[in-house]
Amino acid sequence: MKYQTLAIHGGKKDDSGKHSVNYPIYLSSTFVQPDLEQFEEFVYSRGNNPTRNAVESLAAQLEGAEHGLALATGMAATSLVFGLLKQGDKVLINSNVYGGTWRFVSNIFADRGIAYETVSDFNTYDFSRIDESVRMIFLETPSNPLLKITDIRRITEAAKEKNILTVVDNTFLTSYFQKPLELGADIVVYSATKYYAGHSDILAGLVLVNDEQLYTRLKFLQNTLGGILSPLDSFLLTRGIRTLGLRMERHQQNALAVAKYLAGHEAVEDVYYPGLESSENYALQRSQAKGDVGVLSIRLKDSHDSKKFVKNLKIFGLAVSLGGVESLICHPATMTHESYAPELQRQIGIDEKLLRLAVGIEDIDDLTGDLEQALEKAKR
Ligand SMILES: Cc1ncc(COP(=O)(O)O)c(C=O)c1O
Repeated sequence: MKYQTLAIHGGKKDDSGKHSVNYPIYLSSTFVQPDLEQFEEFVYSRGNNPTRNAVESLAAQLEGAEHGLALATGMAATSLVFGLLKQGDKVLINSNVYGGTWRFVSNIFADRGIAYETVSDFNTYDFSRIDESVRMIFLETPSNPLLKITDIRRITEAAKEKNILTVVDNTFLTSYFQKPLELGADIVVYSATKYYAGHSDILAGLVLVNDEQLYTRLKFLQNTLGGILSPLDSFLLTRGIRTLGLRMERHQQNALAVAKYLAGHEAVEDVYYPGLESSENYALQRSQAKGDVGVLSIRLKDSHDSKKFVKNLKIFGLAVSLGGVESLICHPATMTHESYAPELQRQIGIDEKLLRLAVGIEDIDDLTGDLEQALEKAKR
């Protein structure tokens, strides 16, 4: 089956004998055992819940992965994967990752005796100087909020030679546009809160993996740490996934149109969007992904007041997050990336003027019209 057919018909079928089109929501914390010696598949919902298992298998099918795990949030998914690390291990991480991931790395790794190195450009990184303690490479591509693209094949080839795990946070593109496991990665993580769920109504995380041993350890950690996705949210995540392909196409189409519109506007100084042919990452992105994200970042020229611009937008809501059907705008320096110290923000290219747009699936004329009227009012 092709992707969009799988998104609609994949996962598990109703096994209750009722033949419902949608997999039922099993709101049950525990399951009755036939007798003392007999343990069945479902014992207690932290370990396995039918509705959660259904969305886990759907996500795995879409990724082309052997196994999927669903967690309560994207950060629970990332934390689960970081749970593979031990004292003395070292992690390489790209320098502009999501602020919450950075909060984890910069605050919690030290307590656990785990070292890290931030890499500003993995595409030119010299892997021959990697030390023995490096156990994991964690990367986000496109990165957040500057949409830098990392060459996944280059990293995974170098990592494999040295027995290093490669983890890709694929939140921005989803398996619809990019399949990191096929490009050699070991683990894929998602904030499924974003495009997968797609309606800004739940928080969710996913971890996808092929390797049995890795899966066994991650499954153990999921049950032991306990940050699982609830049955109700598993149902809602499944519902979101059914339309993922349609939404991704429209997000991409709208984001490209907005990027082009802004790139040609006299008020705009910079546009960061890998789907623009003028982007330095345009070719690399096309070599490893089938499409582009619905997110872009911009800076206005000094002739325009960014605060006034944001204040006057009527359709783009001022909010963190992305991947829902509605358009949002945020100010990374004080919102999504406030966990980075100001000095570090400057080093990685986040400044007061940077704005991140998460383009929704509304009518494109309304979106550009909204930007136009707000830019007009933002003139100094
Ligand atoms: C790229 C990326 N990864 C991970 C996360 C964390 O996900 P959650 O908010 O679902 O915990 C986010 C959230 O914004 C994100 O943008």
